[in-house]
Amino acid sequence: MRILGIETSCDETAAAVVEDGSKIISNVIASSSEMHIKTGGIIPESAARQQIKFVIPVISKALENEKVDAIAVTVGPGLIGSLLVGVETAKTLSMLWEKPIIPVNHLVAHIYANWVNDTPEFPALALVVSGGHTDLVLMKGHGKITWIGGTRDDAAGEAFDKCARLLGLPYPGGPSVSKEAGLFRKNNPKQNLNLFPRPMIDEDNFDLSFSGLKTAVRRGVEGKKVDTSEICANVEEAIVDCLVDKSIKAIKKLKPKSFLLAGGVAANLRLREKFKDELSANNLQVEFHVPEAKLCTDNAVSIASYAHFNHKPVSWEKVTANPELTITS
Ligand code: KG4
Ligand code: ZN
Repeated sequence: MRILGIETSCDETAAAVVEDGSKIISNVIASSSEMHIKTGGIIPESAARQQIKFVIPVISKALENEKVDAIAVTVGPGLIGSLLVGVETAKTLSMLWEKPIIPVNHLVAHIYANWVNDTPEFPALALVVSGGHTDLVLMKGHGKITWIGGTRDDAAGEAFDKCARLLGLPYPGGPSVSKEAGLFRKNNPKQNLNLFPRPMIDEDNFDLSFSGLKTAVRRGVEGKKVDTSEICANVEEAIVDCLVDKSIKAIKKLKPKSFLLAGGVAANLRLREKFKDELSANNLQVEFHVPEAKLCTDNAVSIASYAHFNHKPVSWEKVTANPELTITS
């Protein structure tokens, strides 16, 4: 079965055709992030206008001469103006082509990038780390998701973005901080990276907190001449340590067969490296899966893949955008 995925929840306009949830036929992404560099972050109204501009050309390019059996579209969470563009376009196509439409939760879809050319085994523990969410969930099967823990305040991506902004680095903050951090580590391989706190790390739960990091960074740099790349390496290490520590604790307790990393922050090289190191240092017999970097950030392949494995079509009249969706709703 071939599914057309449509993703417009934030500042990426994406469409993809995926066969049987695993084989990419086409994958097209137009991003308005260049425009947001100038403003240092996303202005929802501008993002929505860009979605309108890109949505038809992106879908046309993804389809070329392909025929699809169903349409999958992100209904939330995200920015309402951006979401509506994808949702209303998908509904129109569903009605005209008389094809089923499958509403998709963007956060759960991130996890499904791990099904591209792969078949993770259940039960699986998944860590979804994006710009607006940080959730640890247990998947006993497709559609069987239990929330285990997550951030109590800022998301991991948000922490990267806020710290980058404070340091005068370009949007999106994750890749900018990570680039600087990599340079610092390369030149100072033995340096301790403990400048900033790791909140909640000793608590006996799977929760996280990142809102204090920005304040700690501000205090660390205010009125001082600092080495930006050193601060970046410390920011990255603090975020990575918290994410890895709580996930390893959850793996030890829940003993899943696989561990799935997902969401924009999963593109982070240090995070990927530290997970591999710690899983082997703790001798944990769990299969580690992480999508290739371009399928970690927003894309429509994961939307179509989710829809294949959670094939629950509804009539197009019933599909509505919901900016407040959570990973278990
Ligand atoms: O999943 P995503 O593309 O969009 C949302 O659903 O939010 O995630 C975007 C987030 C941003 O906060 C961005 O700074 C972060 O992912 N990000 C990274 C990296 N690439 C993207 N964070 C750290 N390292 C990266 N290489
Ligand atoms: Zn996302």
